[in-house]
Amino acid sequence: MLRSPNGLLEFTALDRDVFRVRATSKKRFSNNPSFAVVESEWTGRDARVVSLKKSIQLRSDVSGLVVRLEDGKIQLGNDSGGAISIDKIGFTGKAPRLELRLEEDEHIFGLGETTGAFNKRGLIRTFWNTDVLGHSPAIHPGMGSLYLSIPFAITLRDGVAAGLFWDNPARQRWDMGSTDFDLWKLAADSGEIDLYLFLGPTVENVVNNFGRLTGRTPLPPQWALGYHQCRYSYRSGAEVEAVARTMRKKKIPCDAIYLDIHHMDGCRVFTFGKAFPRPAELVSRLARKGFKSVAIVDPGVKNDPKFGVQKRGIKAGVFVKEPTGKRDFVGVVWPGKSRFPDFLNADARQWWAKEQGALSRKGIAGFWNDMNEPANFARPDKTLDPRARHRTGHGVRSHVEVHNVYGSLMAQASRDGALKANPNQRPFIITRAGYAGVQRDAMVWTGDNSSTWQHFEDSIQMLLNLSVSGVPFCGCDVGGFLDNCTSELFVRWMQCGAFTPFFRSHTNIGTVRQEPWSFGPEAEEIVRHYIEMRSRLQPYLYSLFAEAARCSAPVMRPLFWHHADDLQAVDTGDQFLLGRDLMIAPILKQGGTARSVYLPEGTWYDYWGGGLVEGRQHVLAHAPLQFVPLFVRAGAVIPFRDLQQFAGEKPMDEVTLNHWVGGMGSFEFYDDDGQSNEFENGCCAKRTILASGSRDVGKLRVSNQTGTYESPTKTWRVVFHGLPQHPRVKLDGRSIRCLSDPGTGLPSCEIKHPAGAFELAWD
Ligand code: GLC
Repeated sequence: MLRSPNGLLEFTALDRDVFRVRATSKKRFSNNPSFAVVESEWTGRDARVVSLKKSIQLRSDVSGLVVRLEDGKIQLGNDSGGAISIDKIGFTGKAPRLELRLEEDEHIFGLGETTGAFNKRGLIRTFWNTDVLGHSPAIHPGMGSLYLSIPFAITLRDGVAAGLFWDNPARQRWDMGSTDFDLWKLAADSGEIDLYLFLGPTVENVVNNFGRLTGRTPLPPQWALGYHQCRYSYRSGAEVEAVARTMRKKKIPCDAIYLDIHHMDGCRVFTFGKAFPRPAELVSRLARKGFKSVAIVDPGVKNDPKFGVQKRGIKAGVFVKEPTGKRDFVGVVWPGKSRFPDFLNADARQWWAKEQGALSRKGIAGFWNDMNEPANFARPDKTLDPRARHRTGHGVRSHVEVHNVYGSLMAQASRDGALKANPNQRPFIITRAGYAGVQRDAMVWTGDNSSTWQHFEDSIQMLLNLSVSGVPFCGCDVGGFLDNCTSELFVRWMQCGAFTPFFRSHTNIGTVRQEPWSFGPEAEEIVRHYIEMRSRLQPYLYSLFAEAARCSAPVMRPLFWHHADDLQAVDTGDQFLLGRDLMIAPILKQGGTARSVYLPEGTWYDYWGGGLVEGRQHVLAHAPLQFVPLFVRAGAVIPFRDLQQFAGEKPMDEVTLNHWVGGMGSFEFYDDDGQSNEFENGCCAKRTILASGSRDVGKLRVSNQTGTYESPTKTWRVVFHGLPQHPRVKLDGRSIRCLSDPGTGLPSCEIKHPAGAFELAWD
């Protein structure tokens, strides 16, 4: 710790590659707890302090933080160079400020959810959760804030990654080389400087450490990964059931239907209105058909003296107070005049969790937390009075200091409520607003986009940047929320959405319908195909979610996740990888039937045509409306299952391991019962799959199962892509027959009841 008349500066080595820098202009650091950080006990205690004439250094075995005494500059790096250089750190009045030096070719990614370019270098963004209708950059080119604030960034320079997180939920403004190309200026309205600095050198390591610091996304229930159908609003129980019936009649897989605000009695939270009579029966009829019901939950509690939630809330004293502290703060949201639960207060969260039980008791399986920036129509700044009072466990704090965490803490209450009601069911919480760490409690969707090509394209970079900001479970309103979608846009967006972590079509009141069949038979046919593909990809997706839960690796990955040293890959923000091996390059232009696709290092198969292309080049992919350009890396092993109309419809008797031969591949296969929390006690099935070899000779090795889940899978079918029709294949050294796969006509082998490990070799 360094003391000066201007305040305090403290450096801590949390781990060999994670450092913390704190600064305050006061005599003491505040003892306000962090809302983001969950793991504060790190193991970096073996770091040494080295005091030299011109600097003080904090060194771990691989890296060091150097404070230069002559000018106060702070440098963090390892022996091969500096990764983060803080030129200035201090306060202007109460406002903390920082200035970091940017290198010529430095890229900036992350920042949670922001509009505009993929690489944030050159932009100014403000972290201040805001309800923004139609946030496309085409509508608001300089759009600074959105619904969610994650003041975390990854910098990439010559393939070397570093990361920075400023833990401060007040308003922050980041100028990332916009006004001054070499400088990254960060400022907050209040609070302290509390920086976490991550030394990669890989992106994976930065994000893993950020996840360790702020928490992981828990494994979702399998149904959350299916196709979800939403509209603002299905106006009655009968309409919801008609949509559900049509899904099943048309055999379009679907796992969940959403009840938007019209399901409530006059927007009274946790209630059902007259158009939804006997809601428990409705929900149970839907459940019998394999649909989960997800209800919207807005924080605003209607100001109605007869309304039970309000009455109990007032009695328990759980609402945010006016600046005077005397009365409850009242704003205006969908229900009209409303009070706001004080989610910063633990008792208020518990109260809310209990109230939410009213929905759980009716069988509602998922909770859609909306308007939780919090939105307030009654003020020009669209939120609560900055001086409104929150009663936290650590004293009263004004709204302006903690604004950005309101949504996260609502999600926490919602998750607690879901668990309280059903302790052995994995909760499904979706949120619009949040702060760093929101992923512990909810998945994030990107709010009110528009049915425009521009916004479709923008959604890719938004989801990629969210994915590397600790939030692997994310998605946008597929098809677009505002405005009328067209048939072509719908098809193209659904083709892409099928490969994003969260796959839900949603649209605004008054717009044309956006169910899979809404745009005629041709569009329906294509869309069904991709929804079906999503259903068959479930074991792949689910295994990726298990990986995300373990180490925060995104499900939907920017190319730089695996190819950070390839500048072209780093700059590509209109394609993405699902896991390591599946490349999706959506058609993002009206009338487009071809596009240029960048394939990074490796050999790539065209998923549709089977042709092989060498990586590190752009290729032209042809894609008439039925096709989205898809490429698979040689060496990939991608498990598929048979089609289901909803998760849990059929046991996974058989897993098809699709293997594209000709490279090294590895995959961690994960399975469990898909819904309970028994996996936490080891009730799961994990297998490591390794592939190697060339296109002529190769091997695929599947390890023993670890975990105690009694898997229903009796058959593993291995389908070879890229081999001649009749390859010679040996199973554990003995020749076996290779048949033609009924689905694809490709050579395939069946392995029945593989109790333990097995190895397939071919030549
Ligand atoms: C907000 C949400 C949107 C929802 C609407 C009505 O605009 O972002 O998804 O449909 O409110 O509840």
